[in-house]
Amino acid sequence: MPRRIGMFFMSRFSFSVTLLVFILSFAPLALSQQNHMNLDKYVCVVCHSDLEDEILTPPVKDWKESAHFEAGIMCADCHGGNPNDEEIAMEPSEGFVGKPEKKDIPKLCSKCHSDAKMMRAFNQRSDQYELYSGSVHGQKSASGDADAPTCVDCHGKHKILKVKDPNSMAHRKNIPETCGGCHSKKDVFEKRRKASNQLELYKKSWHYQKFTEGDVLVPTCMDCHGNHGILPARSERTQTVCFNCHAAQAENYKSSPHWTAFKKTGEPVCLNCHKNHDVVRPSVAKFSGKGESDCIQCHEESSPAYVAGLGIQSLMLSTIKAVETAQTEMEEFKANAHGGFEISGIEERLAKAQTNLAELHIITHKMDVESLKKTSETVLSQASSVSGDIHNMLAEIQTRKIGLAGAWFVFLGLMYSIWAMGKAYERKE
Ligand code: HEC
Ligand code: HEC
Ligand code: HEC
Ligand code: HEC
Ligand code: HEC
Ligand code: HEC
Ligand code: HEC
Ligand code: HEC
Ligand code: HEC
Repeated sequence: MPRRIGMFFMSRFSFSVTLLVFILSFAPLALSQQNHMNLDKYVCVVCHSDLEDEILTPPVKDWKESAHFEAGIMCADCHGGNPNDEEIAMEPSEGFVGKPEKKDIPKLCSKCHSDAKMMRAFNQRSDQYELYSGSVHGQKSASGDADAPTCVDCHGKHKILKVKDPNSMAHRKNIPETCGGCHSKKDVFEKRRKASNQLELYKKSWHYQKFTEGDVLVPTCMDCHGNHGILPARSERTQTVCFNCHAAQAENYKSSPHWTAFKKTGEPVCLNCHKNHDVVRPSVAKFSGKGESDCIQCHEESSPAYVAGLGIQSLMLSTIKAVETAQTEMEEFKANAHGGFEISGIEERLAKAQTNLAELHIITHKMDVESLKKTSETVLSQASSVSGDIHNMLAEIQTRKIGLAGAWFVFLGLMYSIWAMGKAYERKE
């Protein structure tokens, strides 16, 4: 008898568990279906779709393409109101807030996006509002500055897409236009006496050039300024943002007198010599150049600092020259010599010289000619040994050619003598 009761419960238990698992496995599907299927009972959607108004109707279509639609976030989740009853749908007593005021939008969005528990369920971070509130944009917006962006200026109004979607305004691909588009508005920035040429300048940069080629390591606006937590341009974090990616240059710069000066006065740092938006590929010409980001803007021509720069320049030029010479000689050798020589060792030495030269271009940031000498000597000796070996090989080719010509000479002479001897013999006969 107890055994039968046990069996009964066990079968009941396993049946219930199976049923539960079955229901649960369909729950997500059922939930997502629910939103989509009940749209024709969701009065906000029904009525607004039918309005055929150029302001009141587009939100429906846009929302249907959004990440929110997919996640089941409905009109009333943002606007309040009663989505089940046409009569009282937009009654304030039903919590309807209508079109939110601009300054209230960040709070509205973060009702959910700051809810760590809800966001964790979607594997999302929940710090956007916190970062935004502390940012230049957030503070301006909170103080009633209607030109400062809120969430919807960077994500769209209703067509809010996942940021990984290439059509999202916040997708990396679209960042220069999303940020730069607003920052190019003269009417907004002129009255604040702020520049409105960041996008124009950025488009002239090497960074942008590589960006258009699809390089994902080069910076766009958000890699230097952030997205939600944008700091003032004069903050130390923005001023030193280049350090994040150009660590080797930064390390050498930090052992230069410029870092000490920067700590005291905020200058000079990377952007004083390279600019920030229109960064181009530099060369040693900068040491004696007359441009606004060259040494001359801060150091008089007769000053020890300027003279030090000239010293660095001339050392660099002679080192670069040696490597370039070795390189062209190698290319010419390869184009003209036809086999017979083992050159992999020489090629390796040339590659080492090139790597060391690249290193040298970085050490220039110490602004100290002495620090360059050791590496420069190594490069010079590597380059000259490459050139030397190539000269030796060329000489050997020369010798071989002379040898060959000599052999022909002897051979032809011999042939001629035999022929002459034959002729003389013939005549004797
Ligand atoms: C029966 C039709 C109808 C229904 C149902 C309806 N709306 Fe509207 N809605 C309108 C019309 C018409 C307007 C424009 C006139 C007005 O503001 O009353 C409007 C305006 C709005 C506005 C803009 C208000 C503003 O301040 O500019 C929002 C937002 C809005 N509706 C959201 C909703 C939401 C959310 C629901 C569902 C809870 C909903 N509507 C249900 C017809 C409807
Ligand atoms: C994720 C939140 C969110 C959802 C979901 C949402 N809205 Fe909105 N809606 C907003 C915000 C924010 C604004 C204000 C945009 C602005 O200031 O430009 C707005 C504005 C509007 C406006 C005023 C448009 C205008 O340009 O003046 C209407 C109408 C509207 N929404 C209707 C709807 C309807 C209908 C739905 C559902 C199909 C919906 N919204 C879903 C956040 C939302
Ligand atoms: C100045 C433009 C800008 C503003 C304002 C802005 N965002 Fe973003 N947001 C971005 C960018 C850019 C990304 C993409 C970041 C990336 O790809 O790493 C992003 C990403 C996100 C994401 C995806 C998760 C994440 O954090 O990467 C969410 C969610 C989000 N934002 C919500 C918000 C909310 C809510 C607000 C308002 C409180 C807001 N954003 C304000 C630009 C902005
Ligand atoms: C009622 C809750 C709720 C509100 C209000 C809300 N969101 Fe969302 N949002 C979500 C959920 C849930 C997702 C889906 C997350 C996912 O799929 O990973 C989402 C997704 C997003 C994404 C895409 C994130 C990604 O994966 O790249 C962005 C951007 C975003 N919301 C911005 C906003 C903005 C801007 C507002 C205000 C206009 C807003 N949200 C209001 C709940 C909300
Ligand atoms: C390589 C890093 C970098 C990139 C990319 C970048 N910025 Fe900047 N930006 C800076 C730095 C550094 C400053 C501070 C300049 C200074 O102090 O003179 C700055 C300054 C600014 C300022 C303050 C006003 C000004 O012009 O000095 C704005 C606004 C700005 N950037 C917007 C943008 C926008 C929009 C983009 C994209 C089109 C962008 N930035 C791309 C690094 C960058
Ligand atoms: C809708 C317009 C708009 C958009 C979009 C926008 N900004 Fe801004 N931004 C502003 C305004 C307005 C200010 C405040 C200028 C002021 O008065 O100081 C500002 C301030 C800044 C500052 C501080 C400038 C300073 O002088 O310290 C930086 C940096 C900046 N934005 C970068 C960005 C980046 C990066 C993005 C994109 C992720 C972006 N902005 C998107 C309008 C915008
Ligand atoms: C997000 C990373 C990142 C940040 C931040 C960044 N850069 Fe770059 N930068 C790169 C990459 C990657 C390249 C290499 C592109 C290439 O392949 O030539 C590059 C190239 C350069 C070059 C050209 C180098 C060459 O070989 O001629 C200069 C100069 C430069 N950056 C200066 C700066 C300055 C100045 C800043 C700060 C205002 C800065 N970068 C911020 C990633 C970054
Ligand atoms: C005092 C002026 C000055 C400062 C400050 C400065 N640079 Fe340079 N930088 C130069 C000059 C000059 C060159 C060209 C040197 C050369 O070709 O040997 C250069 C070259 C470069 C290059 C290209 C190097 C290469 O491999 O060809 C990069 C990248 C770079 N700098 C980044 C930075 C970064 C990042 C900072 C800040 C940590 C910085 N620079 C600070 C003057 C400066
Ligand atoms: C934006 C201004 C600025 C630029 C550009 C600049 N410097 Fe300087 N430099 C300084 C400051 C400030 C100091 C520290 C105070 C001083 O000694 O004059 C300094 C110091 C030096 C020193 C140490 C001088 C000494 O007497 O101890 C050298 C060397 C130097 N700079 C070289 C250069 C070279 C080379 C360049 C160009 C590649 C350059 N600087 C570009 C501002 C600048």
